[in-house]
Amino acid sequence: MKLGILGFPLTHSLSPVLHEAALKAAGLEGSYRVLPTPPEFLRARMQEVRREFTGVNVTIPLKERVIPYLDELSDEAQAIGAVNTILNRAGVLVGFNTDAPGFLKSLEEAGLAYKRQRALVLGAGGAARGVAYALKKGGAKVLLYNRTLERAEALAAELGVGVLSPAALPHALRTCDLLINTTSVGMKDPTASPLEGLELPHSGAVVDIVYTPEHTRLLREAKAAGLRTLGGLPMLVWQGALAFELWTGVKPDVDVMYRAARAALD
Ligand code: ATR
Repeated sequence: MKLGILGFPLTHSLSPVLHEAALKAAGLEGSYRVLPTPPEFLRARMQEVRREFTGVNVTIPLKERVIPYLDELSDEAQAIGAVNTILNRAGVLVGFNTDAPGFLKSLEEAGLAYKRQRALVLGAGGAARGVAYALKKGGAKVLLYNRTLERAEALAAELGVGVLSPAALPHALRTCDLLINTTSVGMKDPTASPLEGLELPHSGAVVDIVYTPEHTRLLREAKAAGLRTLGGLPMLVWQGALAFELWTGVKPDVDVMYRAARAALD
């Protein structure tokens, strides 16, 4: 079974490590290749995928751009407008989005409730789109906040969720049950926080979807304040586990995937 990942650049992807460990643990013959694909080579790459691959993952900057090359989309991929997993069903390419259900799985695994909970999503980019869609579908009361208000307004209108003005943000922060950072603030700079000068939730859990959470100031501060926290590694593992199941029909050993990812991050 030939599997792989399309994106550009792909220097830091943990997906090969996750999937190779899962294949081995399941006793399946297969490979998972890194397929660096600048957007201008996407057409040729998709021909190769159609000819040779059972399935592939898709990452930045191709999750939206790949859609015109697919034959079918799952309802979720259609609604989110982004594909992170492609299944090749005998030459018919079907696009899925496992980021959204993978995010909910990561909350469930951590024992963090979302149904009927007040969820505040920071950001309005591609990552916010999947997270907000998933939370809304899971029955949360979702509010979006973004530095560029118009982007949050457009996304909120599209998904049917609420949007916060800067004036409304402090109260919403204090009273939310779940705060999810999907912005890139804090990803590279361990001293930056998306809450610069604002208060943390009083009792809500704090999630940051970057997968090196010990490095983010937001999660360090939330933990120090006694709040429950969750980083992005579980989301990464679960979106991979759901993709693996689509390709192979087999539920992977998630513990093996966690161990492989942690070993690669060390
Ligand atoms: P992704 O697909 O990973 O979500 P993106 O579409 O580039 O990436 O979105 C990045 C998000 O981080 C956006 O919500 C962006 O806010 P803007 O829409 O205002 O650009 C947010 N972001 C990035 N840098 C930021 C900063 N310094 N302060 C606040 N928000 C920031």
